[in-house]
Amino acid sequence: MFVVKIGGSILFDKEYQLKQKLLSNYAKTIRNIFSESKKKCAIVVGGGKLARKYIAVTRALGANEAYNDIMGIEAAKLNARLFIGALGDIAYPEPPNNLQEFHALFNVTDKIIICGGFQPGQSTNAVAASIAEIVTAEKLLNLTDVDGVYTADPDKDPNAKLMKELAISDLISLIAKQTTKAGQYPLFDKTAVQIVQRSKIVLQFINGSDPENLMKAITGKPIGTLITH
Ligand code: UTP
Repeated sequence: MFVVKIGGSILFDKEYQLKQKLLSNYAKTIRNIFSESKKKCAIVVGGGKLARKYIAVTRALGANEAYNDIMGIEAAKLNARLFIGALGDIAYPEPPNNLQEFHALFNVTDKIIICGGFQPGQSTNAVAASIAEIVTAEKLLNLTDVDGVYTADPDKDPNAKLMKELAISDLISLIAKQTTKAGQYPLFDKTAVQIVQRSKIVLQFINGSDPENLMKAITGKPIGTLITH
């Protein structure tokens, strides 16, 4: 059983347009891997630019952070529905509202359950980590728009190097420096990393801009950054 977190960052281009071709390629890859090989998986989709756009407006209009989070949760669910639409009958038709709902469904359906957000105060990475924990997943794959975890921000530091492996304690230190509010949980959130640590979940960060990377990670090829315990 694999849990695949697809970052909202890979769904939109610079002009805020949805990458329809990428979605179609993902649908094909997911069908190949999970439908034909009979491997089980759950997918969590992030809110990306859609979430940030809506959150920016509700924040400017005076809404509180919990409400802004709810905007992000709903945006992530809308993005989840893109994958539900693309996967058709191999996907469960509704994104679950919380972990209990997910778990109950997981025990009665063989379809791929596709989730968005669950509750305020976290990001969809925490959704993915809690799902991986409750089903004792083999692996949690985190697909983003970068190749993995770097020694520094690659956009700001040309000497930043990709780390093939990173200890969970170092990931925790990296995240501790981040400030968080609705729409801003860079890399991974604190709730998520605590869940990964307490249950020693096998977590791997990979570049999701190419769906083939998902295939490589599932088949155990060395790619991205593996978090070690
Ligand atoms: P994301 O997980 O998408 O955050 O949730 P992100 O930082 O934009 O990451 P990617 O790149 O899309 O993966 C969007 C926002 O939705 C709210 C948070 O405000 C988050 O920043 N959210 C999401 C929650 O409050 N709870 C959830 O369970 C999920």
